[in-house]
Amino acid sequence: MAFTPLFGHQMLYGADYNPEQWLDMPEVLDADVKMMQQARCNIMSVGIFSWAKLEPEEGVFDFSWLDATLDRLNAHGIKVFLATPSGARPAWLAQKYPEVLRVNEQGQRALFGGRHNHCMTSPVYREKVKIINQKLAERYGKHPAVIGWHLSNEYGGSCHCPLCQEKFRQYLKDKYQTLENLNARWWNTFWSHTITDWSQIHSPSLLGEKAVHALNLDWQRFTSDNALDFCKWERDCVKAITPDLPVTANFMEFFLDYDYFQWAKELDFISWDSYPQWHVFKDPDYIASYTAMNHDLMRSLKGGQPWVLMESTPSCTNWRELSTLKRPGMNTLASLQAVAHGADSVQFFQWRKSRGSSEKFHGAIIDHVGHLDTRVGREACDLGLKLSKLGEICGSEVKAEVALVFDTQNRWAIDDAQGPRNKGMNYLEHCLDYYRAFYKCGIAVDVIDETCDLSKYKVVVAPLTYMLREGYAERVKNFVAQGGTYVSTCWSGIVDDTDLCFLGGFPGPLREVMGIWEEEIDSLEDGIEVYAKMEPKGAELCFNSVEPSDIFKGHELCGLVHPDADTEVLVSYDVDQPQSYSPIFYAGMPVLTRHAYGQGKAYYVASRMDRAFYDNLVQLLIADHELHNGCGQKAYRLAEGLSVTARLSDNYRYVFIGNYASYEQSLGLNFAYEDMLNEDEQGNKQAVSGAITLKPFEMRVLRRPINS
Ligand code: GAL
Ligand code: ZN
Repeated sequence: MAFTPLFGHQMLYGADYNPEQWLDMPEVLDADVKMMQQARCNIMSVGIFSWAKLEPEEGVFDFSWLDATLDRLNAHGIKVFLATPSGARPAWLAQKYPEVLRVNEQGQRALFGGRHNHCMTSPVYREKVKIINQKLAERYGKHPAVIGWHLSNEYGGSCHCPLCQEKFRQYLKDKYQTLENLNARWWNTFWSHTITDWSQIHSPSLLGEKAVHALNLDWQRFTSDNALDFCKWERDCVKAITPDLPVTANFMEFFLDYDYFQWAKELDFISWDSYPQWHVFKDPDYIASYTAMNHDLMRSLKGGQPWVLMESTPSCTNWRELSTLKRPGMNTLASLQAVAHGADSVQFFQWRKSRGSSEKFHGAIIDHVGHLDTRVGREACDLGLKLSKLGEICGSEVKAEVALVFDTQNRWAIDDAQGPRNKGMNYLEHCLDYYRAFYKCGIAVDVIDETCDLSKYKVVVAPLTYMLREGYAERVKNFVAQGGTYVSTCWSGIVDDTDLCFLGGFPGPLREVMGIWEEEIDSLEDGIEVYAKMEPKGAELCFNSVEPSDIFKGHELCGLVHPDADTEVLVSYDVDQPQSYSPIFYAGMPVLTRHAYGQGKAYYVASRMDRAFYDNLVQLLIADHELHNGCGQKAYRLAEGLSVTARLSDNYRYVFIGNYASYEQSLGLNFAYEDMLNEDEQGNKQAVSGAITLKPFEMRVLRRPINS
């Protein structure tokens, strides 16, 4: 069943718009709206950093420019996401109320400047935000242009001020109730860290405590919850006046600070800001799959609901070491990739380049030259035309048979624990290895966390599930018992959610379902590989011209495990390489095991493996479960650079075929389609079947009836 489109059957297309920077040049503002129409833009995000223009002095408000802006946009048929301005505060506010300024972990209070650096606990800041938010809601809540709230901007970071310390202590009191309990759960007897009064607790700091992992974890949870509490405060200020306007907060790339699955529950729709490093990596699938995984995470945050691409750059960023330009076609391809993964919008940062200050050279649709007749402007107009043909896709869903567990709280814990690889556990990269293998077969993947429902999937893959959160192991057991396939790896089931190790053998509560016991884990120097050979059963992995006598390779981490009597070993560590200075003394121990449990199966992978291994493991899962690709046929591995993705409405399957390579490629189609972007001479959608050819950085969008 498809979703109700958030904003009707038209793709939103637009940008962040800052007319307040140009008020003394009215001709610029007039030209803006005309060019927006020319590019077929229908949405602008307005007011994101406008506080000082809206409230130039405490209690003195000036809405004249915003009135004029919204009216002008409305007159040209352009809708607005109206921002609350809390992402950057006016200088007068910081000067008069220093408590609004953030304090770092060493206790230093920030000076005025920058943005995104206020204390989210400060009652003064909350009060001032409330006043301006309410005024905006009262004034514009019924404005015909306004269709939603853009709360603040990219919430992030933490504050260590006395107000935040006090709130953190209260948070811990609520959670643990007694100090005995807290001391026990934090294992505070170690190094004489027993706390005897709540006031002794301080946020983690290099000047003080950083070694109590459970403290660090609770601090991360607290900062996420406290920022969310602030976001809810903002939301409630506007919702009290405009209960029907949907709210969002723009999220960031695999963001580490906050637990977005908790945040998602409090927002009406998800939006995010995507800035992939296209054209930098030799391997065209790397950044495409990385970005696809991020899009899939955003879609999965609210159970598959279509989402909004709130920011992206039409040409380049200006905050990386190198500001590589998107090659011709890439902006369109990247934008349609978002749509392919569930977005009902394409928006940029920014409409027009600033004239001064730090973002004057960041990509924009309108460059300093001031018109659309530029390479970037022309491609933006062409993209506007394309998106105008895709309105019927809004609300359609991406249906995933596979889920990847990528859990932020686990990420906090696994990165923090001093253990097998303090130079970085590469949790995200390890997850991406698996994601990419499915992506390369055109198989849709939901990216979920440990709190999500598993029962709707055929296959769940959960790499490095170091920390098992409350209830997760139970859900995994039920999922497998009822016929699901679960893939886990080394360094899983090690600790509970206060970072206390499971006793009685790893993977703790998952031992029974996995059918193995992980006794030790070895860490290898970068560049060192271990060889793994197929056991007779491993012949099931022979796809893509891999022979039973071939070897796979592992690196980084090697789990040393014992299989239970009823566990099959498909691949095992190979004999030592002669004269190795670090002998792989665990030759013969399992690398890949399979354990039948109830109606389902659990696979365990002991090491971080090479691509051939993941590709072939996915082939095995395809064979086992009849997994489908975006075209709706049995999945198979695509050529380098190609991708296939689908969205389903009640009537149609929309297939997105992308070429991320810098050369032409073709793909054979098994079904007959209509081309969503190209018309024949009669003006009907062009018929497409057989082999199609894709230009470099091209995306084709095709449809066929759902039951054809
Ligand atoms: C985003 C931010 C925008 C702009 C953009 C530049 O993170 O929300 O305001 O700074 O980066 O890439
Ligand atoms: Zn604070």
